[in-house]
Amino acid sequence: MPEFDARAILADLRQGKPVSAGALAWFARGLASGEVSDAQAGAFAMAVCLRGLGEEGRVALTRAMLASGGRLDWDLPGPVLDKHSTGGIGDCVSLLLAPALAACGAYVPMISGRGLGHTGGTLDKLEAIPGFRSALSEADLRQQVLECRAAIVSASAEIAPADRRLYAVRDVTGTVESLDLITASILSKKLAAGLEGLVLDVKLGSGAFMKTEAEARALAQALVSTAQGAGCMTTALITDMNQPLAHAAGNALEVIAVMETLTGTSVNPALWDLTTALGGEALALGGLAADAEDGAARIGAALESGAAAEYFGKMIAAQGGPADFVDRWPDRLPAAPVVVPVPCPAAGVVQRIDAEALGQVVVHLGGGRLRGDDRINPSVGLSEIAGLGEVLMAGEPMAMVHAATEAAAQAAVQAVQAAYGLGEAELDPPPLIHARITG
Ligand code: URA
Repeated sequence: MPEFDARAILADLRQGKPVSAGALAWFARGLASGEVSDAQAGAFAMAVCLRGLGEEGRVALTRAMLASGGRLDWDLPGPVLDKHSTGGIGDCVSLLLAPALAACGAYVPMISGRGLGHTGGTLDKLEAIPGFRSALSEADLRQQVLECRAAIVSASAEIAPADRRLYAVRDVTGTVESLDLITASILSKKLAAGLEGLVLDVKLGSGAFMKTEAEARALAQALVSTAQGAGCMTTALITDMNQPLAHAAGNALEVIAVMETLTGTSVNPALWDLTTALGGEALALGGLAADAEDGAARIGAALESGAAAEYFGKMIAAQGGPADFVDRWPDRLPAAPVVVPVPCPAAGVVQRIDAEALGQVVVHLGGGRLRGDDRINPSVGLSEIAGLGEVLMAGEPMAMVHAATEAAAQAAVQAVQAAYGLGEAELDPPPLIHARITG
């Protein structure tokens, strides 16, 4: 008889009984090896989502998922640093930050995720670039980090394999919003990467998994204390997700926003500010800056000088993308056949945005997955998205829809209109950074 039985573990979780570290380690190994079925993985995610694991269980699950694969160790002439976000809309900071950190002297083995629930995923965005490969072997990842200082890759059969499986299951089973699952998912990847310093972007607001300040704080504290407990210096910023971060949401459309900011053709202020703030924290953790403010200035200089764009180009080419992507990106990205404006139904000031609903619009256009085997359409999504506090006239576009068909575009137009709350009062947009959590 095997030592553990998935059915018994699931029944205990369903009843909110504590589950031993040994049982969680067995389950995580089973996720990685395939011994645990998809149905069992889905039931596990739902039970943890509904009943929680408690602090001890959360730490045990994180360790178990980390131990499902190997852990990289590095011997490099600079610090190994990274950033991870808990997930948002129009949040393409990782694409700017990995090369900017590299340009500032860090090494960045960034193990990222795909779209999750209503949020976009770094890997899906990068795979909008023709030829880009996110699945690298451990040996290729090592080589690339040595040569280009930055790589953005998926979890693999070797690194964080339990998360690779559970992440895909959570994406399509409505089981993302769990402090325990988010902590174990993020940190099993980040600890496996052998980081010396990690900065976490914990999103708060209508487009985040954590909708209230109390939930976001609890997640930030759980992430920071679990990561520090495992020996990785970590800082978290709680940042605003009550509206999309960039003015675009969708895979290729967000790559455009990144390239415009990286190359200085049209800098997005929110992307710039968050990239410099998170990067500043990371450089300070890695000893490459005196403090976060000094670090932010260094990241800003790397963006401004074109050094970050140069590292981005090297990274894209090394991972199979076009060698001339930084110069020729407008010709290289796919475009949707149908592009229509979303007319504002009445004049007013934007008071509220249901950013989760905007994320769902992108998923339903084909930019995310409704089932695990769905193929992403990289070209679809929203651009020119109006922000909080913006004054709009009746009929003025509040966003542009990029769709595969006219019918999909019309459905998206209505959903975008429904996601906005307009009023008469002037409104100051919320601050970008709500709080800073350190160990
Ligand atoms: N990012 C991850 O890698 N996992 C989550 O659960 C949420 C965001």
